[in-house]
Amino acid sequence: MVRSSLLLAVAASATAVSAAVHGEGAEGSIMGPVAFLWPEDRPWSAAADNTAPCGSTSGPMNRTAFPLVGGAVALTIADDAYNVAFRIAYGNNPTSQSDFKTFVPSEVAAVEAGHQCYKAPTITNVADGTNATIQLEYWSNDSGRDETFYACADITIVSATAFSDSIPCFNVTVTEFEAPASSDAAPQSSVAPPAPAAVSGGDSGLTTGQKAGIAVGTIIGASAIIGAAVFFALRRRSKPSDSEAAPYMTHTKSAHSVESVPAVARQ
Ligand SMILES: *[C@@H]1O[C@H](CO)[C@@H](O)[C@H](O)[C@H]1NC(C)=O
Ligand SMILES: *[C@@H]1O[C@H](CO)[C@@H](O)[C@H](O)[C@H]1NC(C)=O
Ligand SMILES: *[C@@H]1O[C@H](CO)[C@@H](O)[C@H](O)[C@H]1NC(C)=O
Ligand SMILES: *[C@@H]1O[C@H](CO)[C@@H](O)[C@H](O)[C@H]1NC(C)=O
Repeated sequence: MVRSSLLLAVAASATAVSAAVHGEGAEGSIMGPVAFLWPEDRPWSAAADNTAPCGSTSGPMNRTAFPLVGGAVALTIADDAYNVAFRIAYGNNPTSQSDFKTFVPSEVAAVEAGHQCYKAPTITNVADGTNATIQLEYWSNDSGRDETFYACADITIVSATAFSDSIPCFNVTVTEFEAPASSDAAPQSSVAPPAPAAVSGGDSGLTTGQKAGIAVGTIIGASAIIGAAVFFALRRRSKPSDSEAAPYMTHTKSAHSVESVPAVARQ
């Protein structure tokens, strides 16, 4: 499913991609401040997301195959969060916080809106086919005070050779993503002019034109990946809004509203 989403997302328009990219509009309607992008997490509900260990009213349902070697956990971050921790509990339905042991990485001090992905260590002493649950715990300032949030993703551990999925593992923040769009610079010619002789040495040796080309390429690449992520996320999260939706709508970033306005109205 991730693979086919990638293809579709590459075809998606840049407007659609940047409008929906970071999940900001989704916060409070289909997710809390932070959610798993991969593996798939349990359905979110505002009423349960501060309840340990899993922040969901649902038990394990859909398990994602997770490789013993080369696994990762990817996040969609709608709002700044702190003290992010990942833990794992082996078994079919861990229900106690004490079942969960430190997983990858031990602790992340802070994350900002966007996407982050952390590589998992090789899982040892666990048989192929073992079920497990990965817990995400973090603090976020929800409605004016810090609260502890939980989310869980249910997995079945498989050998690396049996794992055929591709993990949407990338890091991008809202600020990185929006910077080039706001300047709206036309992409530079791919033939860069000779470097000015006056510039002193010691830098990377790239001309401004070359750097711009790299930046544009990176952004285009990121757009395609994020588009895939968004498409993937929207496909699997189509829950109706609930009571927490309204306050969150008010801190949707301005880029979102601009992109939502039809082209005619913007002139
Ligand atoms: C489980 O996966 C199926 C098929 O992808 C989907 O229709 C269903 O909504 C999922 N259930 C949950 C609780 O996410
Ligand atoms: C893992 O969970 C699935 C259902 O989610 C179940 O069918 C399967 O038997 C479990 N595997 C083990 C080894 O218990
Ligand atoms: C949470 O955010 C509100 C509004 O931005 C701010 O007034 C408050 O000081 C914050 N609280 C904490 C504990 O960070
Ligand atoms: C994303 O950033 C975190 C923190 O800097 C780092 O540990 C992780 O390896 C990065 N992930 C990728 C895929 O680059």
